[in-house]
Amino acid sequence: MAQLHLAMLKAHNAFADEARGRGASEQAVFDTAAREMRWHYQWAILNEFLPSLVGRPLVDEVIADGPRWFRPDGDAFIPLEFADAAYRYGHCQIRQKYQLNRETDPVPLFPDLLGFRPVPRARTVDWTLLFDTPGSDAAQRAKKIDGRLAPPLIHLPVAITGETEIDEYHSLAVRDLQRG
Ligand code: HEM
Repeated sequence: MAQLHLAMLKAHNAFADEARGRGASEQAVFDTAAREMRWHYQWAILNEFLPSLVGRPLVDEVIADGPRWFRPDGDAFIPLEFADAAYRYGHCQIRQKYQLNRETDPVPLFPDLLGFRPVPRARTVDWTLLFDTPGSDAAQRAKKIDGRLAPPLIHLPVAITGETEIDEYHSLAVRDLQRG
């Protein structure tokens, strides 16, 4: 996540440099960079992420007919049903191990990828291993969507959960079910 965040910052700065190169005013530079970054992100969600997640027919249906259930009155917002229940489906896609680059073997999620520290050089991500890229082999796949979580998510480290006397709170499954 930290390195994806950094990649987004770098992309934003590249858009800002481009806008500056075209002679945009300082205020317009940042409005343009933010808009272009947002549009690229939304393009990837609409054209790559959603079709691979829910299938092209459903994406086409929603684009053509509009949303059936989510009809915000006024400003759009993230509904509780989405944040606290539905979208946590993604937890079951997490793998037990990830290969981050070609120099190191796959490493387990925890403790290796815990974060909360500067990224060590050996953990530098080679994005072609995480996203399908023209000219490279297929990237690693997410775990299949089912009713199971990878073991590291059933034993979340204290660094994530905080101190707790309730053992079950180390299980993301318990947390997801309770919030849901
Ligand atoms: C290594 C990967 C991940 C870890 C360790 C992780 C861990 C967590 C934890 C600890 C929580 C808070 C649990 C609670 O007390 O309620 C949480 C919330 C959440 N996670 Fe994840 N997660 C991961 C990946 C994902 C993915 C891939 C998705 C979706 C595609 C996702 C969606 C969510 C959502 C929607 C929430 C609730 C956010 C909210 O309350 O607004 N997570 N996750």
